[in-house]
Amino acid sequence: MEKNNNTDRISLSKVKVTANEKVIVPNSALGIDNNIVTYYQPKGVVAEQYRTLRTNIKRINKENPVKCIIMTSSIHNEGKSTTSVNLAVAMTYELDKKILLIDADLRKGRVHELFGLGNLKGLSNYLEGEATENDIVRKSPINGLDIVTCGFVPESPSELLGSKKMIDFLWEMEQKYDFIIIDTPPIIPLTDAAVLGASVDGVLIVAQAGRTKREVIHQSELLLTQAGCNILGYVLTNVEYYIPSYYYRYV
Ligand SMILES: Nc1ncnc2c1ncn2[C@@H]1O[C@H](COP(=O)(O)OP(=O)(O)OP(=O)(O)O)[C@@H](O)[C@H]1O
Ligand SMILES: [Mg+2]
Repeated sequence: MEKNNNTDRISLSKVKVTANEKVIVPNSALGIDNNIVTYYQPKGVVAEQYRTLRTNIKRINKENPVKCIIMTSSIHNEGKSTTSVNLAVAMTYELDKKILLIDADLRKGRVHELFGLGNLKGLSNYLEGEATENDIVRKSPINGLDIVTCGFVPESPSELLGSKKMIDFLWEMEQKYDFIIIDTPPIIPLTDAAVLGASVDGVLIVAQAGRTKREVIHQSELLLTQAGCNILGYVLTNVEYYIPSYYYRYV
């Protein structure tokens, strides 16, 4: 897999999913979680932010476009999974692209919950030799978006994610899809993201505004760069904007 060597680090997007964007759809037969605002409110302010993120990623290196990224953060609960799924939907909606979303959080992945999918055969099952590629690459309720769920919790997730089988799998998927987004665990407590990040085009760091301190983010950068990862940029979640019409809005 070719590495993208662009080192410009930019703040790619600032997103806040607000309560009124989390619409409750009473007959949501598809089982899609209301945090997937790009699905429920594709023309809303928040979906627009995810589209901006999509555009910024595409602009990173036009000669050697980024095709496979991982999403990580310094610590737990900063919005990695929410950003991964919304970015995946925003990318799928763009000119009918074929997108693959992989849940590589083998410890507490929940992408399957967000899409109302089962998780009997996922990435860990494949890497342990208990499932085939056909078993794990599944259609999502959204046309054009395929999903690999995390599977069961294995004994050594980072070894599985750093295996040749994982690298070969990603290479194969790159031939079939326009873009691949991989959700991972946080980088400071766990090595999984660093292990995987070194074999993809780049890493997006999600940081929750008002919570994660600058030094903590620097520590994450250090861990990722030491592991040979290419940091593409940052996504700030939970950002509050002041709009000069005497009221606050959240994006
Ligand atoms: N942009 C955002 N604005 C506001 N809240 C958000 C945003 N993104 C995620 N959240 C909220 O933050 C919480 C954690 O989100 P999420 O599960 O995506 O984080 P995570 O980083 O994947 O967590 P974990 O480390 O457990 O995997 C959820 O309650 C979610 O609704
Ligand atoms: Mg998560």
